[in-house]
Amino acid sequence: MTQRVEVLHGVNLNLLGERDPLHYGTLTLADLEGRIAAWAEQDGLSASFFQTNAESEYVERLHALRGRVAAVILNPGSWTHYAYALHDALELTGLVAVEVHLSDVNAREPWRRVSVIGDLCLATYSGMGPDGYRLALRRIREALEEAGP
Ligand code: DQA
Repeated sequence: MTQRVEVLHGVNLNLLGERDPLHYGTLTLADLEGRIAAWAEQDGLSASFFQTNAESEYVERLHALRGRVAAVILNPGSWTHYAYALHDALELTGLVAVEVHLSDVNAREPWRRVSVIGDLCLATYSGMGPDGYRLALRRIREALEEAGP
């Protein structure tokens, strides 16, 4: 059976396409999800998607994914930098996880250099635009292959 990876978009990412194109490009969230779904298929995975602007819903979604998906890709938006509840919720899932940011968070304001989830993630891809998600899927596929059936 195809292994499912859920991509969890956090706060303000619903407005991709309207946000500063210098940081976030011009794709809408629907465009981005279309690309990710195609890349997942190429890698023999299936992708599902979730976006919310409510931190509690993001946490509850992580809880609900326990044992239901093979891995998660997280771009929590600005919650990345201060929302410790996300760290604890991700830890509780025990899931293989990769962090992605469209913009280069290390080259922007100093507060964006902190990640509350980085220590729980296999890898972080930042500043690569949509390609960060492609690399995240590859990294996940490798990890799942290493773990075996
Ligand atoms: C972001 C980077 C965050 O610092 C910012 O608050 C976002 C998007 C990114 O994808 O580059 O909303 O996670």
